[in-house]
Amino acid sequence: MADVQKLSIPDLAAMKAEGKKISMITAYSYPQALVVDEAGIDIILVGDSLGMVELGYSGTTPVTMDEMLNHIKPVTRAVKRAHVVGDMPFMSYNISIEQAITNAGILYKDGACDSIKLEGGQDFAKTVEAIVKAGIPTFGHIGLTPQTAGALGGFKVQGKTLDAAKRILDDALALDDAGAFAIILEAIPRQLAKIITQKVKCITVGIGGGMECDGQVLVLHDILGLFKRFTPKFVKVYANAYDFELNAVKQFISEVQEKKFPTDEFTFTMKEEVVDELKKYAGF
Ligand code: KIV
Repeated sequence: MADVQKLSIPDLAAMKAEGKKISMITAYSYPQALVVDEAGIDIILVGDSLGMVELGYSGTTPVTMDEMLNHIKPVTRAVKRAHVVGDMPFMSYNISIEQAITNAGILYKDGACDSIKLEGGQDFAKTVEAIVKAGIPTFGHIGLTPQTAGALGGFKVQGKTLDAAKRILDDALALDDAGAFAIILEAIPRQLAKIITQKVKCITVGIGGGMECDGQVLVLHDILGLFKRFTPKFVKVYANAYDFELNAVKQFISEVQEKKFPTDEFTFTMKEEVVDELKKYAGF
């Protein structure tokens, strides 16, 4: 991509103001980031979903700061246009505000991402405010928060009752007041997401939040059909990359076994007289 301009937070805010939908996807590696950036995605999240889709953990809670950094760095090296968000792993911001600022600073400075994201609403508004005051743009995440899904009764829709919906609306307002420039709304009824989107100044990005959010995010491996363990209701699968890869590798294995690869096209040769001399040298 020649002469591409990096998307700034004011560019993203202008998209909300103009009613232009914002696209966001996860990526965890250099090649993945090259592809999604070239495709024209607006925001790339190096999410802690990394734990499940790339590292083989059963959830996101085991993911460490080092693992996040190891995946944020190659993504930021690849990206020319998209805004890159680095996700703060569980227990990297939950202990104290000082701990949260220190770890946000590590992802932002060493990872060279454009913002950080953390999960939590009213309880984390002061943390968000402090990180923003320290100069680090911050993305919130409310509704279904995977790091604490156990406490929410599992991976379930949130905010369906009036009380629960009021709590999530108040979470959104608290993060907005704290200075978050964007909030992910995960697995909540579309009517609630619409009210939040109309009430807050910041950008809302839905994942199972319905059409009225300012933008939409999904996990790359889900849309590519690469992660087969489970597929939530809000995921649309656009490709079958798992079978595509499986078939390519199976074809390679059978061509090796049947001596069909490598043909001359994939082979180097040297002059016959050199071969003859070499054979003599080798004692044939
Ligand atoms: O970690 C992640 O990929 C996320 C998305 C589900 C929004 O937080």
